[in-house]
Amino acid sequence: MKKMIAALGVTAMVGSVPAYAGEVEVLHWWTSGGEAAALNVLKEDLQGKGVSWQDMPVAGGGGENAMTVLRARVSANNAPTAAQMLGFDIQDWGAQGAAANLNDVAAAEGWDSVVPAALQAFSKHDGKWVAAPVNVHSTNWVWANKKIFDELNLSVPSNFEEMAAAMDKMKAAGYTPLAHGGQAWQEATIFDSVVLATGGVDFYKKALIDLDAGALSGATMVKVFDRMATLRSNVDENFSGRDWNLASAMVIEGKAGMQIMGDWAKGEFLNAGQKPGEDFLCFRFPGTQGAVTFNSDQFVMFKIGSDRQAAQGELAKAIMAPSFQSAFNVVKGSVPARTDVPNDAFDDCGKKGMKDLAEANSSGKLLGSLAHGHAAPASVKNAMYDVVTAHFNGEFSSAEAAEELASAVAAAQ
Ligand code: BGC
Repeated sequence: MKKMIAALGVTAMVGSVPAYAGEVEVLHWWTSGGEAAALNVLKEDLQGKGVSWQDMPVAGGGGENAMTVLRARVSANNAPTAAQMLGFDIQDWGAQGAAANLNDVAAAEGWDSVVPAALQAFSKHDGKWVAAPVNVHSTNWVWANKKIFDELNLSVPSNFEEMAAAMDKMKAAGYTPLAHGGQAWQEATIFDSVVLATGGVDFYKKALIDLDAGALSGATMVKVFDRMATLRSNVDENFSGRDWNLASAMVIEGKAGMQIMGDWAKGEFLNAGQKPGEDFLCFRFPGTQGAVTFNSDQFVMFKIGSDRQAAQGELAKAIMAPSFQSAFNVVKGSVPARTDVPNDAFDDCGKKGMKDLAEANSSGKLLGSLAHGHAAPASVKNAMYDVVTAHFNGEFSSAEAAEELASAVAAAQ
């Protein structure tokens, strides 16, 4: 029907079916149940505007696999309409000149005044908007099974020692304390939190953003790796290669006590029908309260044929609409990328996420996530992934890992 309407060049509404307004092809890595539910909000929003959706999913958190597929597509002169992207990768595509200029739609819709500067730093290249930010996630969260906490009389840990004591109790009671999937990006996600909890905001900046060799190899980093080893001793023996959403399921099903993961995990709990405060708890990784390690999913729009540009413009506009930002982020687990979206529709974890973000932003404690592409360029991020994962899998002692981290980062720059 839509194709027929398009072929006839009809632009009016036919009954309740909106007129065909083109097609968008979108590359992304939202393949879990919760992610798919959130993506549906976007698909349906566009379909309501007559824009049809061509899905291009590439599984893998952190987007490494998606970026590999994207590079192949663009080199073959077959760029998608848009691709989900994180931080420094956006800047890379901007520098390569492959991204479309969204300044017209941004000016018409007033993006400059509603998107926080910390996000604009990634969305704009050379003064031009090249990406539309759909959300702000953060990685320094713990997702916990409330029944297990109640049964073992545990309260929310406020520092690493209390976290370790809680894990001991869970283990003694026969639970897997930490649900974890052994993939480099998941270990790096935990690393974000442990670096922040162990060294504080200034250390996080010095080590993961300024890439200071002394901070990367010094005593604080050795302690970070010791703590990573403590966490490692609290995962089950089948952790290798497990997808993050299957780790979330272990907490949802009451097999594991906690998962250290970005707030996309909340999407899995909600998708399983669970409620915050009743079935699961959300709290900041102990020792990181007040600070936020953020990442923002943004859609980079590519330079494409003029026949596809109108639908691309609709996509950019739809992503940034305040009502959409609320509806989407409520399901996704993230918070809006605009400062003017009310928090009414959000649950307690979402409200906390919004409040934490605003406070961290105004107190200088808003930090880009290393694991999710907002602290350092991909080459450095990948070098850190390798060392963190090798240590997690027992290849290095903590002291060796800190040394390796500094040399791997130096070599990657
Ligand atoms: C993205 C999230 C996604 C998660 C797991 C992160 O890099 O920012 O949107 O849900 O990866 O796939």
